Amino acid sequence: MNYLVTAGPTREFIDDIRYVSNLSSGRMGYALAAAAGDAGHDVILISGPCTLPAPAGAELISIVSADQMREAVLNSLPKADIIVMCAAVADYRPARRIPGKMKKGPDVMSLELVKTPDILAELGTLEAKKFLVGFALEAENALENARAKMASKKADMIVLNSPAAIGAETSAVQVLTPDGGATRIGPAAKEIIAAKLIKTIDSRFNEEPAQP
Ligand code: CTP
Repeated sequence: MNYLVTAGPTREFIDDIRYVSNLSSGRMGYALAAAAGDAGHDVILISGPCTLPAPAGAELISIVSADQMREAVLNSLPKADIIVMCAAVADYRPARRIPGKMKKGPDVMSLELVKTPDILAELGTLEAKKFLVGFALEAENALENARAKMASKKADMIVLNSPAAIGAETSAVQVLTPDGGATRIGPAAKEIIAAKLIKTIDSRFNEEPAQP
């Protein structure tokens, strides 16, 4: 099968040297790409800025912003059967990118932000829909919010994790499916979780009726 995995944070620039981003290390996405390769799949890894080495055998596409991630994902769609949106895509970006370096101004200033495209939600609307695995990072009402996210984004599976996983070496997740299924994996190193997740995704994908 052909996996498309996204990983890492995105950076949304304020001017040419400052940006809005998050603490994602990319570790879970890179571990998933490596585990999918180890399981014999072809893997495209679309990654925001990370310091991790590319997993052997994966085709690495490096991007910076949410808009660039969206474009790279859409361009790679024809080559994907399963899309795992592990990236911590920034939800907002500065309304304007100021060329050069913004000068210091008043004591208090505000930054106007606009929503970035929701890539997973857009993939859920496509006619030739792929098998979609989303991640949900929830601080409260975790199960309820994650199930709502799965329904609204039309994902085939949601991996629920907690903010404690961001930037950490270990994680504990729950895999949710639209039929009400919930399976816990971990706590364990992200590499171990990733290998189990790929097994879970593979068997679920093989149960699903073939996509048109
Ligand atoms: N996602 C995406 N595009 C965005 C934001 C998120 O594709 N602009 C994807 C993430 O990669 C993840 C899923 O949507 O697979 C859920 O991301 P999460 O940050 O948990 O949820 P949000 O939709 O951003 O909602 P909220 O931050 O309010 O929980």
